[in-house]
Amino acid sequence: MAKLKLAVLISGRGSNLQALMAACAEPAYPAEIVLVISNHAEAKGIKWAGDANLPTLAINHKDFSNRADFDRKMTAAMNDAGVELVCLAGFMRLLSEEFVTYWRNRLINIHPSLLPAFKGLNVQARAITAGVKFSGCTVHYVRNEMDVGPIICQAVVPIHMDDDADALAARILVQEHIIYPQAVRWIAEKRISINDEKVDLDKPIQSDGSMINPMD
Ligand code: GRF
Repeated sequence: MAKLKLAVLISGRGSNLQALMAACAEPAYPAEIVLVISNHAEAKGIKWAGDANLPTLAINHKDFSNRADFDRKMTAAMNDAGVELVCLAGFMRLLSEEFVTYWRNRLINIHPSLLPAFKGLNVQARAITAGVKFSGCTVHYVRNEMDVGPIICQAVVPIHMDDDADALAARILVQEHIIYPQAVRWIAEKRISINDEKVDLDKPIQSDGSMINPMD
């Protein structure tokens, strides 16, 4: 069966890009990366992708007078590459309404909190400050409102009493690298449907356990 063609959009480190690249390197994985786009030419992920012989494109947003034109450039490049699913992976640019509408239900993101809690930036520090005992990450479809959209998959991690934001971010990142390739695989396998802005997964394995943190 033909593999689902992915674009991965990054701005920096690119560890989620690397997780997707590793998944796509497995012969049985049902998706392939056909384009990596960064708004920073020096993003580490762009170098890794280039080293792995993936097509890359650095587009400097400062070369565009408005957001919509920058987004149109990305859409044109993705259409040329035959992209079927756009994966945001640490892409630190707000997207125009036109772009989000054009790619509706073909555009997903990963966010390092259990949405709808802690949208936006500095979410690990904010979770610690709020004193919540669990955090995690969310893969979701993108809608116009930031960090809103049908949730495909979440992973939970405990927050330890001596955590700082970096320690919590590192614990969450391990799970990000698991659930992002998993969510993409489900989409490629056509097991996902969106009903009333909720995601249903065909043939899920569902956990009926619970977690308590801290423990005594
Ligand atoms: C991740 O924490 C992701 O959840 C968030 O941005 C970060 C990107 O990290 N959207 P990386 O560039 O994939 O390493």
